[in-house]
Amino acid sequence: MQLAVNIDHIATLRNARNERQPDPVAAALIAELAGASGIVCHLREDRRHIQDRDLERLREAVTTKLDLEMAMTEEMQQIAIRTKPELITLVPEKRRELTTEGGFDVAGHYRKLVEYIRPVQDHGIEVSLFIEPEKEAVDLAAKAGADIVELHTGPYSLKQSVGDRKAEILRIQSAARFAREQGLRVVAGHGLDYDNVIPFRTIEEIEEVSIGHALIARAALTGMDTAVRDMLHLIR
Ligand code: PXP
Repeated sequence: MQLAVNIDHIATLRNARNERQPDPVAAALIAELAGASGIVCHLREDRRHIQDRDLERLREAVTTKLDLEMAMTEEMQQIAIRTKPELITLVPEKRRELTTEGGFDVAGHYRKLVEYIRPVQDHGIEVSLFIEPEKEAVDLAAKAGADIVELHTGPYSLKQSVGDRKAEILRIQSAARFAREQGLRVVAGHGLDYDNVIPFRTIEEIEEVSIGHALIARAALTGMDTAVRDMLHLIR
């Protein structure tokens, strides 16, 4: 299993003082050198962490795979087409949320989604949808023309008991299997850390996990290189 590293919170830390350090681009390059398969950044409507200039610089520097997380707006579609990340991940976005709170409502936005995806793909950019691990959402994501689904592991990460966690893992596994049968590639993310990531090793349909907060929190104490290598050690 591979690891995509979300570097948003390097920018959060930098923005806390309106300084130039730490630099998300430097963090991205260290993560790549340590073995990350991709770099993820979320350009939010309110630009609370990653800024437009960061995205431009990341595009110039990242050589593995740049994944632009974004809301399904006209503005973001234009930015994506101009910047040309290897892929975009469509997420629901609420201004007041601390982090992405739920999966993309594929059924509720189906018509718009179908029209939105194609022009992006026509520019050589793959499209991933961040969705709940549910059959209906997977089915509609495939029908809408997505290349990849990212299964939302946030609810799993919040479960406390062993039984509840196991049930959630089975739900994710079954959605992952169904997605592969529909011809989709499957990744997973949100709320994963150095403990709760372990069971994902057994879900062979999931090719990559996308991790931000726990990894950047660890990196603040141990350094980016060690934080990435320690995570890779756990998931391989
Ligand atoms: N995947 C998606 C779609 C996300 O929105 C986020 C948070 O930005 C992540 C993965 C990473 O989540 P976390 O920061 O909890 O590791």
